[in-house]
Amino acid sequence: MASTLPLSQRARLMPASPIRKLVPLGDAAKRRGIHVYHLNIGQPDIETPPEFMDAVRAYREKVIAYGHSQGLSVFIESLVRYYGGLGIPLAPKNVFVTTGGSEAITFAMMAVCEPGEEIIVFEPFYTNYNGFAIMGGIRLVPLETRAEDGYHLPSEETIEAAVTPRTRAILICNPNNPTGTVLRPDELAVIRRIALRHGLYVLSDEVYREFVYEGETRSVLSLEGLEQQAVVLDSLSKRYSLCGSRMGCIVSRNEELMGAFLRFGQARLCTATLEQIGSAALVDAGSKYFAPMIDEYRRRRDATYEELMKIPGVVCRKPSGAFYIMARLPVDDADAFAAWMLSDFHDGNETTMIAPGSGFYATPGRGKDEARLAYVLAAEECRRAIEILGRGIEAYPGRIGR
Ligand SMILES: Cc1ncc(COP(=O)(O)O)c(C=O)c1O
Repeated sequence: MASTLPLSQRARLMPASPIRKLVPLGDAAKRRGIHVYHLNIGQPDIETPPEFMDAVRAYREKVIAYGHSQGLSVFIESLVRYYGGLGIPLAPKNVFVTTGGSEAITFAMMAVCEPGEEIIVFEPFYTNYNGFAIMGGIRLVPLETRAEDGYHLPSEETIEAAVTPRTRAILICNPNNPTGTVLRPDELAVIRRIALRHGLYVLSDEVYREFVYEGETRSVLSLEGLEQQAVVLDSLSKRYSLCGSRMGCIVSRNEELMGAFLRFGQARLCTATLEQIGSAALVDAGSKYFAPMIDEYRRRRDATYEELMKIPGVVCRKPSGAFYIMARLPVDDADAFAAWMLSDFHDGNETTMIAPGSGFYATPGRGKDEARLAYVLAAEECRRAIEILGRGIEAYPGRIGR
């Protein structure tokens, strides 16, 4: 029975995730015996390295107790060693363990903004930034990046013009989800200069740090003069194929800010104990898993991009990082098309699920003909999934340019 009790404004405004909202249609297709290629979600199929479960199995305590709110010291110390290996010297007090990168982003937004204050973001952006901002009553101020420019940042003047007395932070994602763009050193220098001139935090989502196929990334933690303003939002989900463990962290040298995270963290007591034990062992296993994994993703990216280029009317750039491609599709409405692919179309009893682009924008109307494709399947499966996508576009009644 429908309730007449009121919901809060934030509850009403909270959008459904474009990554997950088509899942019921996908499940229905599966019940009809159709195989669904999931290019909608960044769920890697790479095996979680065995160090994780080995450490969990070796756990001998009789009680799975609450841990410290900041995180277990064995895990924090492993993370300090990990960042040290990247040339970023830290102390344990600079690392705060969170329930995934998601909690890191939420805590950071909540700690730096009052309700009604602003964070500058670059569109398209990781869709859940929208939801986290709504929960905190925070206004995201989106600045456009364009496929034609490889989704690189707009000019220093454009970014600076978006700063208002209410701006508290610039949020970047590097390498980027959904565009795969890796920021160049000169772009990070622009962000640094603006942050210093206006006293802004730089919230840097670096969960794809290792996923770079050309060039290299630099963490904002290594930008000179930004020691009090740089805040890294990090996650083990992608790096170690560990999405279900919900392990992430916030890294900052700003002690006041770290104090705020601790108080936020005390309210939710702690994060999962066993997952931290397993994660510490993974982090200490070092970087041996990264190179083969990156080679594998490079093959997947190349296969996905090559197949996309065969579809008439598709526009996209070959991304150099993360594991996503943002593509413009020759369809009238990518939301309707993505749903149609699951409910009305199959090719040899197979179809492809994609994430429609509009949810990766805050500006109404943008991304309507775009989709994000996550190349998280083996290269041959990615090829087949894109081939099906091409056949779907061909058959779609709302196809443009027929
Ligand atoms: C850019 C980005 N940041 C943060 C997250 C959140 O990751 P998790 O909460 O699994 O650590 C994701 C997940 O897809 C992401 O793509």
